[in-house]
Amino acid sequence: MNVLIIGGGGREHAIAWALKKSPKVDLLYAVPGNAGIAEIAEKCFFDVKVMDFDRILDIVKKYKIDLTVVAPDDPLGAGLVDLLNQKGYKAFGPVKEAARLEASKSFAKDFMKKYDIPTAKYAVFDDYIGAVKYALSSKHPLVIKADGLAVGKGVIISQNTRESKEALDLLMRDKKFGASGDRVVIEEFLQGPEITVLAFCDGKSITPMASSQDHKRAFDNDEGLNTGGMGTFSPSRVFTRATAKEFADNIMIKTVKGLISEDIIFKGVIYFGLMLTDEGLKVIEYNARFGDPEAQVVLPRLETDLLDIFNACIDGNLSKLKIEFNNDACVCVILASGGYPGEFEKGLPIDIGDIDSDVMLFHSGTAPSKDGKRILTNGGRVLGVTARGKNIEEARKKAYDNVAKISFKDMRYRTDIGIKK
Ligand code: AMP
Ligand code: GLY
Repeated sequence: MNVLIIGGGGREHAIAWALKKSPKVDLLYAVPGNAGIAEIAEKCFFDVKVMDFDRILDIVKKYKIDLTVVAPDDPLGAGLVDLLNQKGYKAFGPVKEAARLEASKSFAKDFMKKYDIPTAKYAVFDDYIGAVKYALSSKHPLVIKADGLAVGKGVIISQNTRESKEALDLLMRDKKFGASGDRVVIEEFLQGPEITVLAFCDGKSITPMASSQDHKRAFDNDEGLNTGGMGTFSPSRVFTRATAKEFADNIMIKTVKGLISEDIIFKGVIYFGLMLTDEGLKVIEYNARFGDPEAQVVLPRLETDLLDIFNACIDGNLSKLKIEFNNDACVCVILASGGYPGEFEKGLPIDIGDIDSDVMLFHSGTAPSKDGKRILTNGGRVLGVTARGKNIEEARKKAYDNVAKISFKDMRYRTDIGIKK
């Protein structure tokens, strides 16, 4: 099979790496891909954007693509899978209606309420005055979220009424995230460790993957701004057998049953963003895709052929497939550009020393230089150094030993990935 991957981050490199192990995959392509994917793919279409659906369709036709894997939220939310299916092409990822689980936070919250899935208490507002009134009379800290997709930055945790007013001004008046802020969700602030569980879904049945934990804040000790994720580890130490059962019974199964009741056929990966609170496990958010950098620590532990799983999800045969993960631990440390998640420079040459052969260097924002001789930085998150071990401590040490062999101007990373509970 010829496979086209849509996306150009570390997640897509991890997907490409896992697919490459399948004997059934012939040629791999990516839009736009990155320098790491280019090393294992037939071709990366660096000049094509993930939202350029016309050019993606042309590529699917011209390169005889048998399966397109749509990994990022934007093309999923805008219906790329629907378009490919309408034209008779096979694609992995949810259709637009199903991707609303991520693309509209108010839809997701109303869904959870209807199907009794534990989540933070909330209210939804389309009008600025109503939102401000509610926020000013609420207990703080308070969480204010843009309803729509906002490049991972539409969630503001406000400590007091002044900050809440500023957040609502930013989202609803100044339209910092455009139409995504026309509607806001205001919710109760929850506390506890955050856990990610990704799950494959074929529309009827669902299989969870190994658990993981992300580090969203820019700096050590969870300080600084929220980012796309500065590092991950798998498994989570707090996702015990008992918690896994609570997750399955109280969240995962109810989610699939709810989707079926709503006549929503979700084929793809459901990302459960969870918080282990004193009152039990609650859903912070759903995403309609693999997480980044969660995919980088979960896919190296997958023992089953990923192409078989994608096909089973599309064909509705997931319950017949045994999906297995090994007992390794895995740690991914993100090397970011100086300034990220704010402004940063691009096009800086990266020096990569002698990386251990069993360490996976998943590229995010990288691109080859024009002459093809060097690898340059091309984004906020640049590389994900990913190592396996018998336990998190071993994997963590190996990851950081290899981080020390890589450098570029203003390179920055957290030194505490894999430490937290
Ligand atoms: P999201 O974009 O929904 O993933 O939210 C980004 C981050 O904001 C989450 O990973 C949490 O750390 C935090 N967050 C979101 N909702 C809440 C909440 N209700 N209580 C506390 N923290 C939250
Ligand atoms: N790492 C968080 C996400 O992919 O949304």
